[in-house]
This record gives sequence, structure tokens and C-alpha cells, in this order.
Amino acid sequence: MTANELFLHFTSKKEGHIIKDIKWLFQAKIDKEFLKWHSIELSKTQQDDLTKCVQLLQLGKPLAYILGTAEFFNCLIKVNENVLIPRPETETLCEYVIKENPRQYEVLDLCTGSGCIAIALSKNSQNFKLTASDIDINALSVARENAKINNVNIEFVQSDLLENIDKTFDIIVSNPPYLNKLEMESAPKSVTDFEPKLALFGGESGLDFYVKIAETAPKNLAENGLIYLEVGGKQAEDVAQILSNNFKNIEIKKDLFGIERFVKARRK
Ligand SMILES: C[S@@+](CC[C@H](N)C(=O)[O-])C[C@H]1O[C@@H](n2cnc3c(N)ncnc32)[C@H](O)[C@@H]1O
Repeated sequence: MTANELFLHFTSKKEGHIIKDIKWLFQAKIDKEFLKWHSIELSKTQQDDLTKCVQLLQLGKPLAYILGTAEFFNCLIKVNENVLIPRPETETLCEYVIKENPRQYEVLDLCTGSGCIAIALSKNSQNFKLTASDIDINALSVARENAKINNVNIEFVQSDLLENIDKTFDIIVSNPPYLNKLEMESAPKSVTDFEPKLALFGGESGLDFYVKIAETAPKNLAENGLIYLEVGGKQAEDVAQILSNNFKNIEIKKDLFGIERFVKARRK
């Protein structure tokens, strides 16, 4: 059986985004150019492997977990069940941090997960010296591996938010868990059944992490140090308010879909 025949077999009665995922799966596993699929004869092992992957896609498993990798800001990021799949919105967060901070800085990526933010910042700017932290030892082990794959030097620390972190930083960047109880119940199965709850749930209101970060981050920020937070689609105003006790020059920034997605502020 050729790659093209198997592709048609899987997609003939399907619609929409699963077809796109099956195409990406074939591109990753067989060949990027689908015009070549007519002439590629698949072994039995390849057919079995592709069949198993398509079955997982049908169960709602995200393609990145099936392939074990995701692309993020020109970096290849390994992912597994211990880490959130990096999102395109978060690439915009990295873009802001890089563009707005052209000098030498000590930077902390708090709640690093796969390490995607720390790695993207480190790889795409000469200016940053990166530390990255997470509470989850398994996520940290994926992040360490990703730093190696991308050939960047990052100091990793296991910490419940800033509890074990003594150093002072010029910039703290974070994409903490922010789904509220209702959003956890209504999120797509591909998220709630496969992505780690520890990476998603931000407490009853979704804002628990922002409250704790706003209280504790000043101790680890240099005078006039900056904080950049990614927030849920409807949380920007609330997070700006939460930050206002200890921070000044609070700015809300949009993601590539025009949604208010980031809050930037300066330590008072
Ligand atoms: C939304 S994910 C973000 C991962 C990654 N930075 C990204 O943008 O894709 C949040 C991360 O926070 C971590 N986390 C949850 N509770 C934490 C805590 N109390 N202290 C530190 N990290 C925590 C989770 O393990 C998860 O890796």
C-alpha cells in the first residue's frame, strides 16, 4: 500500500481539522511533500504505526503528544504528558520580551513547563541570562532535555512559585495555570483528558496564581524590574488590578488574535 492510499483510506469519510492533523502526521512520519506519497510503498510496521496514531487522533489526543514534539519560536520542543503543549499566543509573549529589552538582563521564566519560553528567549536573544522554575520535577526534566536539544544554557530550579528562589531578576516572565473551575469543566477533551491538570487549573476564579505572584514577585525583582504575565482571554483587567498594589506602569497587551492576553508591569 502506498502512503497516499493509506492517507485516503483514513480521510475519505472524515471532515475538517482531523484531516489536517492526519496530513501533518503523514508529513512528519513519511515525507513533507505529499506529491511524493503516491510513490512511497509503506512497510507493514509503518502502516501499523500510522494506524495506531490515527486511532489516537480520533480519541482526541493532540498531535504534538502523538509526535512527541512541537514547534515554538524556531525551537523544537519535546512534549509529553507532564507538560503543556506550547501555544502560539505564548510566542507573542516572547516576542514582546525580546523586542522591549535590548540590553543585558537576568530573566526568570516562572512556571516553565516544557521550558519553551526560557528556551525561546535564550535562543533568540544574546542579552538574556535565563533561570527557569517549575513545581513539577517531571516537567523540569523535560525542560532540561529541551535546553540540551536547543543548545542553550539555562539554570533550572524546582520551586513552588518563588519559594526556593533567592536570586534577584531584572525580568520575570510567566504563563501560569489560569483556567477557572467552569473553564476546566467546559474545556475541549483534547485539553482536559491529555494535558496536565497542574498546568491548567488556576483555582476557583482562575486568578490564584496571579494573586500569589503579585504578592511575592517583588522580593525577586530588581528595583524597576519588569514582570510579563500571560493571562486568560477575559482576565487582563482583573490581573492589572491584582498587580496594582506592588506594581506601576501597568500595560495590557494583545496576542496575534487581537485578544488582551498579556499584562506587563514595573516593580514599584
Ligand atoms: C500553563 S503551564 C505553562 C508552561 C509553559 N511555560 C508554557 O507557556 O507552555 C503552567 C506550568 O506551571 C506549573 N505549576 C503549577 N503550579 C505551580 C507552582 N505552584 N509553582 C510553580 N510552577 C507551577 C505547571 O507544572 C506547568 O508546567
